[in-house]
Amino acid sequence: MADDLCSFTKDIFVIKVPKKSPLALRMIVLVFAMVCGVYICSICVKQISTHSKAGFLNIPVTQRPCPEPYIEPWEIPYVHYPKPKTYSRDGCACNPVRYFAILSMQRSGSGWFETLLNNHTNISSNGEVFSVKVRRSNISTIVETLDKIYNLDWLSSASKNECTAAVGLKWMLNQGLMQHHTEIIDYFNIRGVSVIFLFRRNLLRRMISVLANLYDRDAKLLNGTHKSHVHSPHEAEILAKYKPILNATLLIPNLKQVEETTAKALEYFKSTRHIILYYEDIVKNLTMLIDVQDFLKVPHRELKSRQVKIHKGSLSNQIGNWDDVEKMVKGTGYESFLHADY
Ligand SMILES: *[C@@H]1O[C@H](CO)[C@@H](O)[C@H](O)[C@H]1NC(C)=O
Ligand SMILES: *[C@@H]1O[C@H](CO)[C@@H](O)[C@H](O)[C@H]1NC(C)=O
Ligand SMILES: *[C@@H]1O[C@H](CO)[C@@H](O)[C@H](O)[C@H]1NC(C)=O
Ligand SMILES: *[C@@H]1O[C@H](CO)[C@@H](O)[C@H](O)[C@H]1NC(C)=O
Ligand SMILES: *[C@@H]1O[C@H](CO)[C@@H](O)[C@H](O)[C@H]1NC(C)=O
Ligand SMILES: *[C@@H]1O[C@H](CO)[C@@H](O)[C@H](O)[C@H]1NC(C)=O
Repeated sequence: MADDLCSFTKDIFVIKVPKKSPLALRMIVLVFAMVCGVYICSICVKQISTHSKAGFLNIPVTQRPCPEPYIEPWEIPYVHYPKPKTYSRDGCACNPVRYFAILSMQRSGSGWFETLLNNHTNISSNGEVFSVKVRRSNISTIVETLDKIYNLDWLSSASKNECTAAVGLKWMLNQGLMQHHTEIIDYFNIRGVSVIFLFRRNLLRRMISVLANLYDRDAKLLNGTHKSHVHSPHEAEILAKYKPILNATLLIPNLKQVEETTAKALEYFKSTRHIILYYEDIVKNLTMLIDVQDFLKVPHRELKSRQVKIHKGSLSNQIGNWDDVEKMVKGTGYESFLHADY
């Protein structure tokens, strides 16, 4: 029993042995816990830092650095923040930019219209960029050229650079536009390009302008230089002295062809955001330019052009074979062209 007791106390003693060094054990556990803690913490910190780095990198992609402008939801695809490669937009980097294209035909007043647009401090219309053949040789060169224009990297006399709020070009229907219309419409719709159609109502007056301009290309009436647009009444008078003779047989088919091309362009591009303007309407009522500025979402300005109209007054004074022309056109759908002012 005593033995039992002894062993019991011994057991107690044995059990009590660990109690002899609880401090050491606790220290070991504590150190282990600390090491683990530090290790876990260091991993956490590493993960947090890489995570926040990735998040920081993502900001320009997923989120605009500029405050959202007050626009309606339908406008979102048409609002852009280009980052030109060649310069910085500086103070205007957060001004939204709209893309546009003026679709027109030669001698429809688009040169005059473009000088009016370019009189606006926030509009850059870069001219007939695709009159240069290599730029329209295939859809890749067309897209490359458009990308450069809309990224504000196209430098022309019209570029306002950093504070541009609307950027575009003048594009004639016969400059690859109708030929590559499917791809160009896709580009316009995907990139959010708005279209300004500018046509002339009086196609007979347009025809005279085309012929006179063709003639001047060779004759160079103004001191040996060919001019498509003039800035003084005196120059206009000299150019208007030439009175073209129209081929009476081809007259009606030509007018019809121009009319059909216009209708085709309107049909092709109807899915784009667009506005349709006529030269004659703007000449008669310059306040229509307010509608254009609203369409491009630029602040209202009074717009001026220094260009002077070349052919003025009655058509009978501008055509070499007026009697033939009058005879051909009378009784057709184009009769009103004979007497309209513009
Ligand atoms: C707009 O036209 C007026 C009058 O010709 C001129 O004084 C002004 O500098 C032009 N503004 C721009 C931005 O071209
Ligand atoms: C497009 O035209 C350019 C210039 O003429 C030429 O260098 C290029 O190879 C053409 N690309 C295609 C895909 O035809
Ligand atoms: C227009 O341009 C002026 C500088 O010429 C700039 O201060 C202004 O913010 C621009 N406006 C817009 C709407 O971009
Ligand atoms: C042609 O040049 C002369 C002399 O430089 C000048 O006086 C005249 O106005 C010019 N005419 C036109 C139509 O530009
Ligand atoms: C008109 O054009 C047709 C076809 O090109 C031509 O055969 C005819 O000779 C021309 N008429 C005149 C008067 O030039
Ligand atoms: C001129 O154009 C404006 C804007 O499109 C229009 O509100 C106004 O009625 C037009 N004025 C005339 C006389 O046609």
